[in-house]
Amino acid sequence: MRFPAEPFRIKVVEPLRRVSREEREQAIREAGLNIFAVAADTIYVDLLTDSGTSAMSDSQWAGLMMGDESYAGSRNFFHFRDAVRDIFGFEHVIPTHQGRVAENLLFSTILKPGHVVPSNIHFDTTRANIEHQGAEAADLVIDEGLDPNALHSFKGNLDPAKLDRLLTERGVDKVPLVMITVTNNSGGGQPVAMANVRAVREVCKKHGVPLFFDACRFAENCYFIQQRESGYANKSVAEIARELFSHGDGCTMSAKKDGLVNMGGFIALNDAEWTQRLTNLLILIEGFPTYGGLAGRDLEAIARGLREVLNEDYLAFRIGQVAQLGELLMHAGVPIVRPVGGHAVYIDARRFLPHVPQERFPGQALVVELYREFGIRAVEVGSLMFGHKDANGKDVFPQLDLVRLAIPRRVYTTEHMRYVADSCIQLFRDRDRLKGLRITYEAPMLRHFTARLEEVTEEPVAR
Ligand code: F0G
Repeated sequence: MRFPAEPFRIKVVEPLRRVSREEREQAIREAGLNIFAVAADTIYVDLLTDSGTSAMSDSQWAGLMMGDESYAGSRNFFHFRDAVRDIFGFEHVIPTHQGRVAENLLFSTILKPGHVVPSNIHFDTTRANIEHQGAEAADLVIDEGLDPNALHSFKGNLDPAKLDRLLTERGVDKVPLVMITVTNNSGGGQPVAMANVRAVREVCKKHGVPLFFDACRFAENCYFIQQRESGYANKSVAEIARELFSHGDGCTMSAKKDGLVNMGGFIALNDAEWTQRLTNLLILIEGFPTYGGLAGRDLEAIARGLREVLNEDYLAFRIGQVAQLGELLMHAGVPIVRPVGGHAVYIDARRFLPHVPQERFPGQALVVELYREFGIRAVEVGSLMFGHKDANGKDVFPQLDLVRLAIPRRVYTTEHMRYVADSCIQLFRDRDRLKGLRITYEAPMLRHFTARLEEVTEEPVAR
């Protein structure tokens, strides 16, 4: 395997400033060893997220100039609506300025306290928006989806038996909809199979519950179906997407991922009554139904991005670039989550730094060192993000301490990827010198965004 050649050439460049190790050392110290508090222009390769970080195409930039900024009925809205209808097949299209607003509108319209929304694994903002309504977010991914070493082609699958059990136990009155996240971001960007979607659809039908998708990375998921699932090799990714969504009643989408834009999102659905209620709320909190928090030019860029993302040369490059980065790391013995998902490579920090216990934040220690030594920004998805204290004040840690290297779309070249791989491998060879960390400040909620930390040399006190 090798890196796929880029199916584009570069027309505009964004210069990167080379920053010395000393400058980075000072920046990360001042940031309290928190990568979120570091200025982005001190970073060489920024793999914090694949969300809103895509490079737009010449066609999308040209589309911006075609923006019609009329308050109502902008022509770009109709282009946007038609693109969503063509690709997803849903009748009603409601623009929002990003994915979490689509979630907020949907859940605040249809959820009541005591409701439960099952999914494979809810993304953090989805879960938070459900819990904000006093409802419960249930993760029902197949067991393999929780094992970083289980090799399964569709580790994002939702377990239909678990779903059937939940619907039988709770009753349909308590479950206003079921969601499937494609690809399953919180489970490592793993895809969901078409056969699984059909099976989940059957369970939903049996109980009379609608099925929605969190469609952020739908094109990447459909490409995996084409590559891995029998019966789909000769279908286009666009055809696969149309089939996938034909099994559902609607979707929420952050266009910041597979919309190939820097801001935007939507809800698309078939139910007219829900649409009316959603639209009323949209006008209150986002804007008029033909712009929903976005400029006309942004709607045009999404309309074009949604069609571009289905280009199979692009998808082969995209998925291949991420897979090859994973391959290089694996080949050098760096422990990563397998198989590699669609948008990111996840390093298993507990196996990378076995001498750093979980209460010393091995993932964050790795993130700090990747920045300090190499100017690479990754993000910790582990003890710092999810750890908390239980009712007795005892620390509770998640099962996995991961470091996510999320790859922005069409932004970095093969040499950038090689640089990331070489840096991670060098750090792996030097891993014994890395120290654990201790929190010196933490906020009561979502502490990873603003926490401050320091390095510690002594062993933690056994509890
Ligand atoms: N759903 C999924 C699966 C996501 O990955 C995200 C965002 C959202 C919903 C929310 O969308 O940011 O437009 O409001 N994920 C980003 C990430 C933040 O880094 O994985 P948003």
